[in-house]
Amino acid sequence: VGFVSEDEYLEIQGITREQSGDYECSASNDVAAPVVRRVRVTVNYPPYISEAKGTGVPVGQKGTLQCEASAVPSAEFQWYKDDKRLIEGKKGVKVENRPFLSKLIFFNVSEHDYGNYTCVASNKLGHTNASLTLFEVRTTALTPGKGPGAVSEVSNGSWRRAGCTWLLPLLILHLLLKF
Ligand SMILES: *[C@@H]1O[C@H](CO)[C@@H](O)[C@H](O)[C@H]1NC(C)=O
Ligand SMILES: *[C@@H]1O[C@H](CO)[C@@H](O)[C@H](O)[C@H]1NC(C)=O
Ligand SMILES: *[C@@H]1O[C@H](CO)[C@@H](O)[C@H](O)[C@H]1NC(C)=O
Ligand SMILES: *[C@@H]1O[C@H](CO)[C@@H](O)[C@H](O)[C@H]1NC(C)=O
Repeated sequence: VGFVSEDEYLEIQGITREQSGDYECSASNDVAAPVVRRVRVTVNYPPYISEAKGTGVPVGQKGTLQCEASAVPSAEFQWYKDDKRLIEGKKGVKVENRPFLSKLIFFNVSEHDYGNYTCVASNKLGHTNASLTLFEVRTTALTPGKGPGAVSEVSNGSWRRAGCTWLLPLLILHLLLKF
């Protein structure tokens, strides 16, 4: 949106994630009706964690740590506790992954579950992590889960090329990923 080029080329410098989408390329002359082709542009980017929520839970209750990451292609998640990788299927703990979200669920929190956890989100362009704390609360009244969260972002460059291949006009997109 917002890019116009009357040239055979459309060059987008420093493309951002928001500029993903469909681009149209139209060719016309005096004798024929314009020909329009559409080019889909996908901007790939490494994960960034938009939300990492710690939570306070009393012993014996269910607790959930949640990590949200945005990435294209979508991120894969891993969880660590004090630098030790958590293996899925550990008794009483379950990891639930969706394309933009990972949950670490404790079905019955015990004393030794409390502590600092790290959520690592990765795709082929990079990885990032955030720390969250599962902390003890002693009352049964749950305090809103506002543990320490961390947000960080990694950026890197990539470019991509797309063309309308039917006539002389050629659309070449130089995409430079920058933030
Ligand atoms: C949670 O774990 C404790 C100690 O292992 C046990 O006594 C209790 O029954 C468990 N609670 C549930 C809901 O499973
Ligand atoms: C968790 O991290 C916080 C802040 O980084 C630190 O103060 C605390 O001691 C850590 N707790 C454990 C159990 O490592
Ligand atoms: C989290 O990121 C920091 C800084 O990039 C790195 O030093 C640390 O090893 C990472 N932790 C994990 C568990 O990947
Ligand atoms: C981007 O990735 C390349 C290798 O793929 C690496 O050499 C370069 O340092 C990275 N740049 C940044 C800003 O991370």
